Amino acid sequence: MTRAPMLHCEALKQFFGSFCAIDNCTLSIPSDSITGLIGPNGAGKTTLFNLIAGAYQPTGGTITFCGQDITFLTPDKRFAKGLVRTFQIPHEFQHLTVIENLMMVAPDQPGEGLLQNWFAPGRVHRVEEETRRKAWEVLEFIELTHIADQLAGLVSGGQKKLLELGRTMMTDSKLVLLDEPAAGVNRTLLRKIEDKIAYLHKERGYTFILIEHDMEMIEKLCDPVICMADGRVLIEGDFKSVRSDPRVLEAYLGEKAGTKH
Ligand SMILES: Nc1ncnc2c1ncn2[C@@H]1O[C@H](COP(=O)(O)OP(=O)(O)O)[C@@H](O)[C@H]1O
Ligand SMILES: [Mg+2]
Repeated sequence: MTRAPMLHCEALKQFFGSFCAIDNCTLSIPSDSITGLIGPNGAGKTTLFNLIAGAYQPTGGTITFCGQDITFLTPDKRFAKGLVRTFQIPHEFQHLTVIENLMMVAPDQPGEGLLQNWFAPGRVHRVEEETRRKAWEVLEFIELTHIADQLAGLVSGGQKKLLELGRTMMTDSKLVLLDEPAAGVNRTLLRKIEDKIAYLHKERGYTFILIEHDMEMIEKLCDPVICMADGRVLIEGDFKSVRSDPRVLEAYLGEKAGTKH
């Protein structure tokens, strides 16, 4: 069965100075999939996420999301369409509490407008209460209610990773880009994050692109798997066929031998 792509990147290019980090990269992400994105360090995975999320505008190529060209849309417009990303290094607001970090994500908060606050304080209050309720539900899901009022900058690395995942639940996400959601977390938490991703996929219908070095996690969750090397797609297929492809091994060995940065 062929699934219509939710996202398609066509001949993407990204230069940093004279260095070509994304080199004519073409790939499709099937709707309703958890697509694994693997490849050695320096392959261009995070840069590709930055292009898809709109942090960078590509030097060349196009990005189509749900049939619409989004190549030059701003990140917030993409976010409003349900294209949401998390970061390899968590980007929490350190001086806000854990629950406030979630509340910040909810779009169209009327409290942000001074005039609204002045002329319609009741509405602002109602919406804030609703946002707080939603944030609390998310905290229950990611099992962090016990640290709701702690400053986000002071919680553990693993809890920050869960918070990143929780932030994707504060909005109507369609496609969620997860950049190494399990990096640096212990095995128990890793399994927990894995379960949460599976749940969000099954119950909320999120499509995911998952960058992860933990191959057990990729094997358990992902189909298809795309392996990148040198800024382009090296091979795509199911986990077994990708893992056993000699080109993939070669790419990783190249990294170990120090030929990659
Ligand atoms: N902002 C940047 N400026 C210059 N070079 C960058 C920048 N971001 C990434 N690179 C380079 O682009 C390549 C791909 O990096 P990255 O996308 O982070 O790889 P991956 O996530 O697969 O490890 C690397 O060689 C990296 O050093
Ligand atoms: Mg990266």
